[in-house]
Order: sequence, then C-alpha cells, then structure tokens
Amino acid sequence: MTVHDSVLDLIGNTPIVDVSALSPNPNVRILGKMEGQNPGGSVKDRIALAMVQEAEADGTLTPGKTIIEPSSGNTGIALAMISRIRGYHLKIVLPENVSIERRQLLEVYGAEIIPSPGNEGSNGAVRRAQEIAAEHPEWVFLYQYGNEANPRAHYRTTGPEIWADVPGVTHFVAGLGTSGTLLGVGTYLKEQNPDVKIFAVEPPAGETVEGLRNLDDGYIPPVFDKWGGFDLLDGKSIVRPRESLEYTRKMAEVGIFSGISAGAALAGACKVANRIDEGVIVYIVCDSGWKYLSTGAWTLDLDEAAANAEKVIYF
Ligand SMILES: Cc1ncc(COP(=O)(O)O)c(C=O)c1O
Repeated sequence: MTVHDSVLDLIGNTPIVDVSALSPNPNVRILGKMEGQNPGGSVKDRIALAMVQEAEADGTLTPGKTIIEPSSGNTGIALAMISRIRGYHLKIVLPENVSIERRQLLEVYGAEIIPSPGNEGSNGAVRRAQEIAAEHPEWVFLYQYGNEANPRAHYRTTGPEIWADVPGVTHFVAGLGTSGTLLGVGTYLKEQNPDVKIFAVEPPAGETVEGLRNLDDGYIPPVFDKWGGFDLLDGKSIVRPRESLEYTRKMAEVGIFSGISAGAALAGACKVANRIDEGVIVYIVCDSGWKYLSTGAWTLDLDEAAANAEKVIYF
C-alpha cells in the first residue's frame, strides 16, 4: 500500500457509485461522484488546494501570510485544513446561521471566524469579506467566486476523472454555488463529447434552498461569466428545500449518507431522468452528512425539517 506524505495527496480521485436503484426511469442510469471522501470532507478540497497552489506559484501567498475568504462552510473548512498544514493564518467570514458542526470544524483547524448576518446568507458573507479585504490589502483574498483556479481545478481533475470512469456519460448535474464545479466539469466533458448535457440545480427564484444560488436572484459569480456559463449550461433543474431533504433521505436507502446539496443534486438528476428516453447521468455528492446531523435533516418530521431548511444555510 502506498504511504502518502500528506493528506493533501488524498484530494481527488474520488469513487463513483451507481445509484440507479433510485432512478425513476429504468433506461437512465444515475451515478454519484463521492466527494465526501476528500480529506477535508467535501468537493471544496479541490478548489482550495488549487487556489492556494496558484497563489503560491505567482508569489501572492508567501509564508506566514493571512488569508481571508467568505464561505458558508466547505471552502472554509478545506482552506483551514490546508492553511494549518502550510502555516497560513486564515479568517473565514461565515454566516451566523450555518450548522454548528461547520463552525466547530473551522475551529479544529485553527481558523478565525468572522460572523456575518444570517439573514443576508452567503451573499452577505461575500460582501463583508470584500469590505475587509479592501481594508487589509496586506491579506490575501483568494475569492472563490472570482478566482479561475476554482473552475480550473474541476477542469483538470473532476472532469477528467468522470470521463475516465464513465466515458458513456450523457448528462452532468450539480448544484450551483460559485458555479466552479459546473463550469470546470462541463467545459471538460463537452470538449470530449459536445453532446453531453450540463444541468444546474437551482432553488426557485426568491426562495432560499440551503444556500443554493438561483442565477435570476441578482448575483452572478464572476467565474460564471468568465467561463461562458450561459452558453455552457443546457438547462436548469429547479429543486425545493423539501425535495432536497427527501432525496437526501432516499440516498440512505442505497447506503449513502450525504449532505443536503447532494440530495438537491439527486432530485435534479431524477427530474432530468424523467425528461429523457435513455442516458447516463453523473451527479455530484458534494459532501457527507456528518456536518448536518444537528439540523434534524433526517430525524425531524419532513415538513418541520423543510421549514428549518429555510433558516439554516447548509452550504
Ligand atoms: C455542499 C456544497 N454543495 C454544492 C456547492 C456548490 O458548488 P460550486 O461552488 O462549485 O458551484 C457547494 C459550494 O458552494 C457546497 O459546499
């Protein structure tokens, strides 16, 4: 067995699991890419490492420096793990209504938390981080929403991994936060086969589904424009909070204990499966369920959990 020098060597190369037992269409296979297997626990390990490595390479990030970043959780946790290993100070602007486990994980790795108002969601955290970064030009602002290292990480790793494991993929479905996953993977897959269709999972306009972003709600991440998001996406799948939770619970039927955005992505994948005659859909299981246990996502009555979902930011 290989002995690795660092946990950072374990980022990426995640497995894909067939969950077609949950497909509403017998002619459509549905496959989940298990990003919770990354050492920091989510898909965001990939982009955090890429942003740090690129900033180190161009001289922006030098030993002992302070990094500031807005994150509702996973990017912050990934950056905290990497910063601890590499010796950077990390300040995360975090909406105050994220699950307790997210705050605790940041503390495990020694990051400093700067709270932002819960009712302003992730957009509020972005605004606050931008203000603080402007006041402290000596700090490094990696800014996952505008940093092309984000989609590039998925273009270089997640996309090629999916293509190598599932050359017959016909559809790719993922939630949209910064949009990095959809753009990086989508661009790569379409280069291999222009017929592959790319679908974003979004909440209904005006509704807050666990931090998922609806592009019609105002803020378009700069990376989305830079990577030609409107041309790349073939469609949207609109998913409500209740459905996200329902499908998160459903995944447990095939033994997958996932985070809530993976439930949203699976719900989106099932909607796509209903619209097509046949195909192979790959969706992203962004993280596993541990960080969400305290929210009652599995234990409360579904309606109560769905009502809570409007208040808690899941990612
Ligand atoms: C759990 C989870 N799911 C989905 C997403 C969305 O991914 P992306 O930022 O690549 O669009 C994020 C990040 O925002 C996340 O943390």
